[in-house]
Amino acid sequence: MYVVANAAVSVDGKLSTRERRQVAISGPADFDRVDRLRAAADAVLVGVGTILADDPSLTLNEEDRQVGRLQNGRPANPARALLDSRARTPTDARVLDDEAATHLVVDEDTDEERTRALETAGATVHRVAAPDGRVDVTAALDALETAGVDRLFVEGGGEVFFSLFDADLVDEFTVFVGSTVIGGRDAPTLIDGEGFLSPSDLTLVDVEQVDDGVVLSYDP
Ligand SMILES: NC(=O)c1ccc[n+]([C@@H]2O[C@H](COP(=O)([O-])OP(=O)(O)OC[C@H]3O[C@@H](n4cnc5c(N)ncnc54)[C@H](OP(=O)(O)O)[C@@H]3O)[C@@H](O)[C@H]2O)c1
Repeated sequence: MYVVANAAVSVDGKLSTRERRQVAISGPADFDRVDRLRAAADAVLVGVGTILADDPSLTLNEEDRQVGRLQNGRPANPARALLDSRARTPTDARVLDDEAATHLVVDEDTDEERTRALETAGATVHRVAAPDGRVDVTAALDALETAGVDRLFVEGGGEVFFSLFDADLVDEFTVFVGSTVIGGRDAPTLIDGEGFLSPSDLTLVDVEQVDDGVVLSYDP
């Protein structure tokens, strides 16, 4: 599986405010860049934290891109993939609409009644090991690959990004840095989780000005 990860952050590295509310960090040109990355993927992955905070649909904005995918024999939208150990995704979440398939990766010990409700709402549930109470990210990606996901686009949030970097699973990483300051010691940052005790070095491969910010492209 090939894994592309992308996020938009403020100059101070925040993904959103301390209230964990989605804020406009980038602009139309960056939204279009992200839509292009989504369109190239078999599935778009986020953690349940992002679902609970933002209720995104994770589908394509540009109809032309949906048409292009259909012409190539693919579904109009990439699938949605969620890391959700305890199946906390609400059954009325937008990712469970009929616009695309949705894969929910849960702890193998998660309550069956809860996962059945999400299956009824349209999700395909994958049960994997969760040794520390959170689904093992390598096992989660293996389950998605078995379900036909060869190219995965990861949109966050900070907890999921940490797990992916910790497991060395990211092949491409792009970050839009907007000309804005959010602040707040409790606001989510680009890479949260436990953090690394020694910095994990990336190779900078491109810098491009987009909207009023820059897109940094890294080869991890
Ligand atoms: N600016 C951007 O580009 C951008 C993009 C996305 C999100 N956001 C913002 O980021 C915030 C949400 O980020 P977040 O860090 O709180 O949530 P997140 O990374 O989206 O989701 C984290 C949750 O995913 C579940 N999970 C399951 N397996 C995991 C694993 N192996 N590793 C990590 N997480 C796993 C955990 O909940 P369980 O233990 O219940 O499974 C965990 O609490 C929101 O404020 C949102 O607006 C911003």
